Amino acid sequence: MNDNMNHSFQELERRRAVALQGGGEARIAAQHKKGKLTARERVDLLLDEGSFEEMGMLVTHRSHEFGLEKEVYPGDGVVTGSGTIMGRPVLVFSQDFTVFGGSLSEAHAEKICRLMDMAMRLGVPVIGLNDSGGARIQEGVVSLAGYADIFYRNVQASGVVPQISAIMGPCAGGAVYSPAMTDIIFMVENSSYMFVTGPNVVKTVTHEEISSENLGGASTHSTRSGVCHLSFPHELACLEGIRRQLFYLPQNCEEMAPIYPYSAPANNPLEWRPKLNELIPSSPNQPYDMLELMDEILDPETRFELQPDFAGNMITAFGLLGGRSIGIVANQPSSLAGVLDINASRKAARFVRLCDSFNIPLLVLVDVPGFLPGTDQEWNGIIVHGAKLLYAFSEATVPRITVITRKAYGGAYDVMNSKHIGADYNFAWPCAEIAVMGAKGAAEIIFKHEIQAAPDPNAKWDEKVALYTEHFTNPYQAAARGYVDEVIMPSETRRKLLSAFARTANKAVRHPRKKHGNIPL
Ligand code: HXC
Repeated sequence: MNDNMNHSFQELERRRAVALQGGGEARIAAQHKKGKLTARERVDLLLDEGSFEEMGMLVTHRSHEFGLEKEVYPGDGVVTGSGTIMGRPVLVFSQDFTVFGGSLSEAHAEKICRLMDMAMRLGVPVIGLNDSGGARIQEGVVSLAGYADIFYRNVQASGVVPQISAIMGPCAGGAVYSPAMTDIIFMVENSSYMFVTGPNVVKTVTHEEISSENLGGASTHSTRSGVCHLSFPHELACLEGIRRQLFYLPQNCEEMAPIYPYSAPANNPLEWRPKLNELIPSSPNQPYDMLELMDEILDPETRFELQPDFAGNMITAFGLLGGRSIGIVANQPSSLAGVLDINASRKAARFVRLCDSFNIPLLVLVDVPGFLPGTDQEWNGIIVHGAKLLYAFSEATVPRITVITRKAYGGAYDVMNSKHIGADYNFAWPCAEIAVMGAKGAAEIIFKHEIQAAPDPNAKWDEKVALYTEHFTNPYQAAARGYVDEVIMPSETRRKLLSAFARTANKAVRHPRKKHGNIPL
């Protein structure tokens, strides 16, 4: 090898070594001291071992403001590239807090945009590991432009490829809007936060004193706002969570949802689930755990729930059924009796649209007493939020199968993936109650005069309740009209669903030609 060649090789090695150092040893040590991993460590743990191929390692900023020309770090605060997760390609960007606090410069933004453009061209999911002080203050408006370039691409990519965000440090100001437009947001407890304006501004404007964690930490967004889909105790768990999430998603909107090998157990080829016959309590007012019911239906240990601590009266989860990835939307009778309210409607509507975007069939388990009454709900717009769920189901073209396990009352019956709004198979258990309202309330209204005129009004009321119950508090009126395709024994539910999903696999529905619908946002 001649000297020139040797020198050029060494130069590449030197440049690579500098880039790998990020903001330098001291800043890496400071990052570790906070219990946080570096951008590169996160990428290595996220991806299949040895699969990462970096792009843009030598990109630098072009700014001369405030002496920035003297502070140049190859990569400019974000590590970008491709790799695999369980053998499937993904694109990833990971912000490097050791370089200008992971702040977003013009060049940093260009690297992320290039990655997103590539994701759309190749049909590959994008994962963003966010850890950033926001816009690079020294660069001014060009960094704001960079954010907007990313936002625009988030929207272009929405519904084309899955976009997953993990918040692993600060994420403040307008910067929150990039994750907000992705499909999934995961957060790490006690080391990440998201807010549009931080505690200092809050104090000045509203005189509230609040910590970053309380204002926008993982627990706040997992329980109160619903911004976060899952929070994790540490970064490793969060990265593992991203891998688990991808397991249920296809690579892009042109692919079908994954189907993994599965065979029925030799000792139970018809997949009976006798335990399901025992799950519904004898009193209709007694709660039970819909998660337990769901686990009896799904392949063992495949439930992956999103937003478990937000709007607990509605469950949204992925799972496998006979190896097929499906999305499950279910009322949870053990939380607020499974009632539909604003948060439950918003949560489920967004989930339905996520599943529909990526061809993931939907299973809907219904036990709903109706919509939650009250001024709080009405004044905060339950009408429009409930309409989101109705719209999302009505619009979804993936296979959609409903099982009414117990109550399906009022408007909530229609909304929860009824036959009328396009469900493919509607099953009901024999204990199902499908009616306009509960028998007590119904009898009180429609037999009011008769009850009042009776010598013993209470006895009359009981008599009318029994009459209404006999007439409507069952699945047979709906079955007689074909609104329910089949009344089934709980124990045969899994078997019925396996064949229903297999039969609907090639479903093809086209909506009337339009630019796009106007979902009640
Ligand atoms: C340039 C930044 C920076 C930024 C941090 N740094 N944020 N450099 N632009 N936005 C640098 C610091 O100078 C420091 O450099 C290093 O990153 C680490 O920062 P520290 O403050 O030492 O770390 P820490 O104490 O952990 O605090 C982190 C922080 C704080 C909470 C993020 O740095 C902070 O408040 N930064 C400013 C946040 C902000 O106001 N950003 C603009 C938001 S508006 P050295 O050399 O010491 O290592 C916005 C608009 C987006 O983003 C709009 C989109 C539409």
